Amino acid sequence: MRVPSILTATALVAGSAHAFYLPGVAPTSFEKDQRVPLNVNSLTPSLSHQDDQIHAVVAYDYYHSTFRFCKPEKGPQWVRESLGSIIFGDRIRTSPFELHMGRNETCKSICDSRAFDEQAARFVRSRISEGYLVNILVDGLPGAEQVRDGYTGEVYSSPGFPLGRVTEQGDVVLNNHWDIVVDYHRAGLRGGRYRVVGVLVQAHSDADARRIDGGKAECGNGKRELLLNENGETKVTYTYSVYWRESKTAWATRWDKYFHVEDPKIHWFSLINSTIFVVFLLGMVSTILLRALRKDIARYNRLDNINLDDLSGTSAVGEDDIQEDSGWKLVHGDVFRSPRHALLLSVLLGSGAQLFLMVGFTVLFAMLGFLSPSNRGFLTTVGLLLYTIFGFVGGYVSARSYKTFGGELWKVNMATTPLLVPGTVFGLFFLMNLMVWAKGSSGAVPLSTMLALIGIWFVISVPLSLGGSWFGFKQPAIEPPTRVNQIPRQIPQVSRSLSLWPSIMMTGVLPFCAIFVELYFIMTSLWSSRIYYMFGFLFVVYGLMVLTTACTTVLLVYFMLCAEDYRWQWRAFVGSGMTGVYVFVNALGFWAMKISFGGMVGTVLYVGYCALIGGLVGLLCGTIGFFAAFFFSMRIYKSIKID
Ligand SMILES: *[C@@H]1O[C@H](CO)[C@@H](O)[C@H](O)[C@H]1NC(C)=O
Repeated sequence: MRVPSILTATALVAGSAHAFYLPGVAPTSFEKDQRVPLNVNSLTPSLSHQDDQIHAVVAYDYYHSTFRFCKPEKGPQWVRESLGSIIFGDRIRTSPFELHMGRNETCKSICDSRAFDEQAARFVRSRISEGYLVNILVDGLPGAEQVRDGYTGEVYSSPGFPLGRVTEQGDVVLNNHWDIVVDYHRAGLRGGRYRVVGVLVQAHSDADARRIDGGKAECGNGKRELLLNENGETKVTYTYSVYWRESKTAWATRWDKYFHVEDPKIHWFSLINSTIFVVFLLGMVSTILLRALRKDIARYNRLDNINLDDLSGTSAVGEDDIQEDSGWKLVHGDVFRSPRHALLLSVLLGSGAQLFLMVGFTVLFAMLGFLSPSNRGFLTTVGLLLYTIFGFVGGYVSARSYKTFGGELWKVNMATTPLLVPGTVFGLFFLMNLMVWAKGSSGAVPLSTMLALIGIWFVISVPLSLGGSWFGFKQPAIEPPTRVNQIPRQIPQVSRSLSLWPSIMMTGVLPFCAIFVELYFIMTSLWSSRIYYMFGFLFVVYGLMVLTTACTTVLLVYFMLCAEDYRWQWRAFVGSGMTGVYVFVNALGFWAMKISFGGMVGTVLYVGYCALIGGLVGLLCGTIGFFAAFFFSMRIYKSIKID
């Protein structure tokens, strides 16, 4: 089909993650027959092809003893990785596989046969039924399986290949033989340099594989599959073959096969949908609001004039007109009254602003293609780094808001800003990590990485935040356009009961609608270890979310003020922050639809991570909503005359 492929192409340009590479990522060239390193990564759960479900959450170390994979003689070495890569569960280590550029080799074995006792067999059988994938890297390129798209018939590479499979009779077989097909590209002046541009692995099960003397092996014809016996010992010989194919793919485009848009139409459809929706919303909000406001302001200012005339004794006005003096003007003496728990609000706003900038810039960089997937975990690393640097902004926003709220505990504010939100996130992360660690999976982030995180936090982020706070407190407080009355005004009973929860719930719905579809794709790639790269879409969607949040919160606050309820600060924050709650609820829905795993640890981890994501989205949207409402109220009260 023509149209989808054009769409795909456009989508790839839109999310041109593959177009550029960081200067540091230079191609590696090999001589003919030179050894090409093959590294192994942790085994990850996947989206099962059979029932379209995800059956597990935690990753397992490749060298977890129960898999009995062959180890290098001197023991596996760690391969240097970025911080983000480790946090995201990569555990890359060396392996004893011998690949020589351009040399086809069949049926090799690297270690003696392995014995699986009942317990190990049971463990591996459950991992196979859960659809675990083996992940290998040849020159940084993941060993992939070829998958055909059900809709378009396109063939693409999906990283990882199955550990085993469940046959139609319900037997569980282990894939102990791997056919590794490596595509290479000739480069250089006389084509004397060879580069790895594609890695496919076809794994199958072979009960007849035997290791014979002299480090050689003998493979069967693949007729008999290897069942793991649960009542007794099973001998397993791991074997592999390597095939090299010359390819026209250039090194710079070697990742393209991995970027597959499952259904690009959905992305476009949702994007166009949300855009129309947001434009409509913006139009509605601005016309209604502008017209209503202009009318209000004109009326208020006319009334002022009339009142002046009144004093001079030339009354020509009916009672009605004067009684009309209602609505948001009446609360002008209270609208800038400092909210309850101003300290907490200002700290949250500071962290929210920090998060806002971090997400925006990370997605922008990713969209521009600076964070290519060949730099594993680079996205997370850059995100962390940006968050750390924007600590300055966080401190500044928190301090300045606190000062504007008239808060006096400035030392407490300064100290809390860099600790509250990062501390909560880190604490939760740490607790969940303890659980993974207790389960013996490799998903647990090592202690050294944890310490590095704490180090970055206290050595860079905290001082930056303190600096920002200091700078923020030096600045004058933002002067509200109207003075705050001594005595708080009574809030009419009607408006109190009018719409607290419904209005709060409503505010978060629209921003959530704007991100809903993209969220689904992010969730799928997050939990089934696929590559997410549609950053072009994500950037637009992020912008749409910001706009919708701002609009709906402004509407909420306008209606509140019209109902003479002036306690808008927390309401604006919580109302727009509701988006996070919807994200969380949606994640639970995703769980019910797509994920079927039992076990306490899996459940707690899933719910915990989703709560964390929901909380951060809530903080982000809450901050956007608050500031939109803040500038809105500054603007409207500036335009009326108050005696
Ligand atoms: C190696 O195997 C591949 C795939 O079977 C084949 O296309 C290629 O010609 C072989 N190369 C050599 C040098 O035999």
